[in-house]
Amino acid sequence: MISAVMPTYARADLAFERGEGCWLESVDGRRYLDFGSGVAVNALGHTHPRLVAALTAQAQKLWHCSNLYRVPGQERVAARLVEASFADTAFFCNSGAEAMECAIKMVRKYHDASGTPERYRCITVEGAFHGRTLATIAAGGQEKHLKGFDPVVDGFDQVPFGNMNALRAAITGQTAAIIVEPVQGEGGIRPAETDYLKKLRLAADEFGLLLVFDEVQCGMGRTGSLFAYQQAGVAPDIMALAKGLGGGFPIGACLASERAAQGMTAGTHGSTFGGNPLAMAVAETVLDVMLEPGFLQEVARKGALLHDRLCLLVERHPSSLLSARGLGLMQGLVCKRPNGDIAEACYAQGLLTVLAGDNVLRILPPLIVTDEEILEGSAKLEAAIAALESRGA
Ligand SMILES: Cc1ncc(COP(=O)(O)O)c(C=O)c1O
Repeated sequence: MISAVMPTYARADLAFERGEGCWLESVDGRRYLDFGSGVAVNALGHTHPRLVAALTAQAQKLWHCSNLYRVPGQERVAARLVEASFADTAFFCNSGAEAMECAIKMVRKYHDASGTPERYRCITVEGAFHGRTLATIAAGGQEKHLKGFDPVVDGFDQVPFGNMNALRAAITGQTAAIIVEPVQGEGGIRPAETDYLKKLRLAADEFGLLLVFDEVQCGMGRTGSLFAYQQAGVAPDIMALAKGLGGGFPIGACLASERAAQGMTAGTHGSTFGGNPLAMAVAETVLDVMLEPGFLQEVARKGALLHDRLCLLVERHPSSLLSARGLGLMQGLVCKRPNGDIAEACYAQGLLTVLAGDNVLRILPPLIVTDEEILEGSAKLEAAIAALESRGA
């Protein structure tokens, strides 16, 4: 018999009751160090006092009022995002997939408004993940996500990640945009080379294409800068955000330059819930915390510490681990044994991690993680691997 909750996930048999900082407590009273952050969502950990205060204060005043009216919180958050990025404008929605849908629609509208409506195709890269709507699974191009959902939404051409020759060869008179994650998340924590991102910008400019960065996972401080693209010094025309922006409250945002958003006039796009007062109260506070002096530098420093610990594990456990890679607190261990076995062994040590493609184990602690927690998490990881090795598994 089908479960009451539709069985679209292969869930671990764990349920949590409460969380504080980097720690979660399960319904049976066990404590877990959360190095998954709800897949890069709980950027400020669990029940951060300032987020709790912002959400409860807003909950006393107004939850929802509709985008038929001005939402002052949206105006403030949009202004902050614009000031902190390449963008001139922001659209608010509720998830990463919706932010990417907005990006894809904006690309088509831009070319329509520019008098080149025949340009509607987006070039995407292998290993990409952009969400689970019909358009975003087509953009991601992964067989396992597309299977059974034919017909595939038209308008996406995929090339190998990091290969400029293949990308340039795929550009035609119908190409509208290039879409990439500056650091692939679901694909296996694969950071794009700076040179590759620079060349994408050059190609986009040369052929009149829009450059779209999906920073749903790698954005909002995760890599040690507010946005990953800032480390490469390459600005996109459009950028999708979600996850960390709400610190656990569902929110998405699609940022764009004025030029890229030229077609997005009244009536072209919308969302009932997008950017409601509750979401905006939380996002504003997330930005307050992340933009405090020193916060992002600390993420970068702690990311380097975590990376060093992971490299040490690779050295000590060559039969289980191949390499460590990532940027800031977005780290991955390329495994030699099934990543699922290691994640499972981590549960037994009270540590949560997340699986990714390329047999990678994602290590995504909250950005507020302490040095001691990084050392404790690394020790738990090592204990999990050692337990597997001693079993001869
Ligand atoms: C890079 C990227 N884009 C888009 C998405 C989709 O976000 P959501 O699950 O909020 O729709 C994800 C989710 O993991 C992601 O990592």
